[in-house]
Amino acid sequence: MDTVLSGIRPTGRLHLGNYFGALKNFVKMQHENRCFFFIADYHSLTTHPDPVHLHDNVRNALSEYLAAGLDPEVATIYIQSDVPQVAELSLLLSMHAYVGELERTASFKDKIRKHPDNINAGLLNYPVLMAADILLHRAKYVPVGKDQEQHLEMTRRFARRFNQIYNVDFLPESEPYNFGHELIKIPGLDGNGKMGKSEGNGIFLADTDDAIRKKVMRAVTDSGPTVPNQQMPEPIANIFTIMKVVSSADTYDHFLAAYNDCSIRYGDLKKQLAEDIIQVVAPIRARIEDIRSNEAYLHKVVTEGAERARASADATIKGVREIMGIKPF
Ligand code: TYM
Repeated sequence: MDTVLSGIRPTGRLHLGNYFGALKNFVKMQHENRCFFFIADYHSLTTHPDPVHLHDNVRNALSEYLAAGLDPEVATIYIQSDVPQVAELSLLLSMHAYVGELERTASFKDKIRKHPDNINAGLLNYPVLMAADILLHRAKYVPVGKDQEQHLEMTRRFARRFNQIYNVDFLPESEPYNFGHELIKIPGLDGNGKMGKSEGNGIFLADTDDAIRKKVMRAVTDSGPTVPNQQMPEPIANIFTIMKVVSSADTYDHFLAAYNDCSIRYGDLKKQLAEDIIQVVAPIRARIEDIRSNEAYLHKVVTEGAERARASADATIKGVREIMGIKPF
């Protein structure tokens, strides 16, 4: 049985990118593997230190996971900060992570560009904490979107380095995972870039049908193709990328053919896309509120999840400590 792990930062409502990049793959894998899914609240503090809303954000993320189909009877679902062993593993791994390589991480460079007033050490150490999340359970597969590829590459490098330095074969080389084999990036509908929680371009799992229709109808397009088989500009390619994951192959092929012979009407394309997104989102949304207000259930899920995650973490930490020469008297 393989160990599979994934996580999400609780910094806003979950969107289609989170669903198709991580959640959906995880939901499919949970029955056949040893699975961990967690809410990365420590990670959210690197950019969103907000004591007033943190707990609510965690509750939202947890409710949305469960509504999307994570089953706490088969997968271990927990909150990162309920498993303090991850902080110790992050500290230990950081002894072999070089400042230069951390500074070169794309996500770090991106964050310092966007938030030059808050370049904190937690942000620099972000990939190390993420490696600790993954290696804490010695996970083999990590279902994530394309945006996390570099972090996974660094996780593998840290594991390899650890094994080499101590001449052991203890930490695995974890692989990013998607059922379609290629990691995906769900774009926003604003013409460029990825769909994100704070980009203002998200279609959320909690959105109403009407909100989804409005957002899709507002998606950026152009005046239409004029030459058969012409290359799609980015905003149009983005709409097709989303259609590829939410719609049937027939629908996708139909609109692609219409684009290629220049008969496409973007209004029809968007209407179809909106309805297909609604098919995915509506059943999830219907479950979110019920779960969100069920205190006893949420309490049970995170309490049991934390216990199981701590047991798994203990085994890894014990090994790492011994390997590094930290031994009890
Ligand atoms: P986060 O919270 O930004 O996103 C959670 C998951 O959703 C995926 N994702 C996307 N996939 C495709 N297209 C998009 N537009 C899109 N936006 C988000 C992400 O790839 C991710 O899988 N650093 C992580 C959280 C984390 C983690 C981990 C993940 C911390 N420790 C250990 C896996 C394993 C993050 O910020 O994800």
